Amino acid sequence: MASSLSYCIILVLGLIWTSHAQTGLVLPLRRDAKTSQFYTTFQMGSNRATINAVIHLSGQHLWFACDNYTSTTYAPIPCDSAECEAAKGIGCSGCNGPAGPGCTNNTCGTASSNPFFFYITSYGLYEDTFSSKDHVELPDFIFSCVPNDFVEGLAAATSGMVGLGRFNIAFHRVVAEKMNLPDRFSICPPSSGIGKLTVGGGAPTKSDISGLLKTTPLLVNKPVSNQPFFSDNDLSQEYFIDVRSIRVAGETLSVKDSYFAINGDRVGGTKISSVQNYTAMHTSIYKQLARAFDKAASDMKMKSVAAVAPFRACYGAETVKMTGAGPEVPTIDLVFPGKDVYWRISGANSMVDIDRKTMCLAFVDAGSRPTTSVVIGTHQLEENYLEFDVAASQLRFTSSLLVHNKSCSRI
Ligand SMILES: *[C@@H]1O[C@H](CO)[C@@H](O)[C@H](O)[C@H]1NC(C)=O
Ligand SMILES: *[C@@H]1O[C@H](CO)[C@@H](O)[C@H](O)[C@H]1NC(C)=O
Ligand SMILES: *[C@@H]1O[C@H](CO)[C@@H](O)[C@H](O)[C@H]1NC(C)=O
Ligand SMILES: *[C@@H]1O[C@H](CO)[C@@H](O)[C@H](O)[C@H]1NC(C)=O
Repeated sequence: MASSLSYCIILVLGLIWTSHAQTGLVLPLRRDAKTSQFYTTFQMGSNRATINAVIHLSGQHLWFACDNYTSTTYAPIPCDSAECEAAKGIGCSGCNGPAGPGCTNNTCGTASSNPFFFYITSYGLYEDTFSSKDHVELPDFIFSCVPNDFVEGLAAATSGMVGLGRFNIAFHRVVAEKMNLPDRFSICPPSSGIGKLTVGGGAPTKSDISGLLKTTPLLVNKPVSNQPFFSDNDLSQEYFIDVRSIRVAGETLSVKDSYFAINGDRVGGTKISSVQNYTAMHTSIYKQLARAFDKAASDMKMKSVAAVAPFRACYGAETVKMTGAGPEVPTIDLVFPGKDVYWRISGANSMVDIDRKTMCLAFVDAGSRPTTSVVIGTHQLEENYLEFDVAASQLRFTSSLLVHNKSCSRI
């Protein structure tokens, strides 16, 4: 009896494990309407405290506010430990208050950054059990405890950030290591409903999107100045991609190649951001884009109206045809090397509604001296599936799922 029961338990655990080996870790991804931030949800510690945390594509690790966090299974990472060294710890922190997560002595410090308020401070690193609603349980999961007031600027429902950058203790790398899966993750940020953040697995299989996937290399740049701490030999924690040209309604913009390349001073190139609302472009690219879009829009009988800052190209909503995938407007393609490899930005991703009467081209001018020429923002990521295969240094992406009558909440 006892042995058949334990056989049964082993069998059940075996089944759960096999299914996770295929899908990896799957977490919900929601959009906060007020800030346009995307956040996920999981549980931490012995009390399975629910943590909502904003995803940060260049973040270093998981951090959350610990002032109200209680658990009996947490442990500080000691200074001078191998783990502290692997985490590139800086300094050693102590505390005089009542002991608890966030207040311990001899604790490895690390720089946590809140990109919405430009806070960068060193706080202690801890380990505790991570768990998800679909029964993944990962003991000794590394995170940093920050005080409650550090979370300023984050979506109201959230209390931390999930760092998904190229960093030793980034969220995806820790999950992949603990689950013995390849270092890769995907985001499918919803415009409404519940999308997905996955780690370790391949593309979702509920609705087949394999035919929509295109692949382009992820580039490694040197870190640029918006990174909290770096030395010259470090490689960038951010995800750069090799956009070579931009097409509007099929016509290639005449932009100097040098803007798209990354020079020795880390200037130029294209990266993907989960922090910036709208794609921002070097003035020389933006002007060409806005001009070409305006011309193609007028060919489609869209009527220009007064601009609403920070946008420059705005249209009367009644002159734009609506489809299931958003407004029907000229397509914008980010073109990569290779045959037919491009990211098509269309409909809901290209336009932003200002009010019922007005919609604008949802791109902004980054001025004439941005470090990175094109920074792709969250508005352009909604309802697109993006898989960051960090181990293979490749990005797989679909462009808008809405165009194919699919969505992040249904894949
Ligand atoms: C994004 O847009 C929202 C709404 O306009 C605004 O509240 C928020 O501050 C913006 N965030 C960033 C990082 O620009
Ligand atoms: C944390 O707990 C304190 C005392 O119980 C309470 O006053 C405060 O509102 C809580 N803060 C949060 C962010 O939950
Ligand atoms: C840290 O060490 C100091 C000095 O030994 C001690 O007073 C303090 O209570 C300790 N803090 C914690 C949280 O144990
Ligand atoms: C789109 O998908 C929904 C749900 O899967 C389905 O009910 C609807 O008929 C589809 N629409 C079109 C135009 O294919």
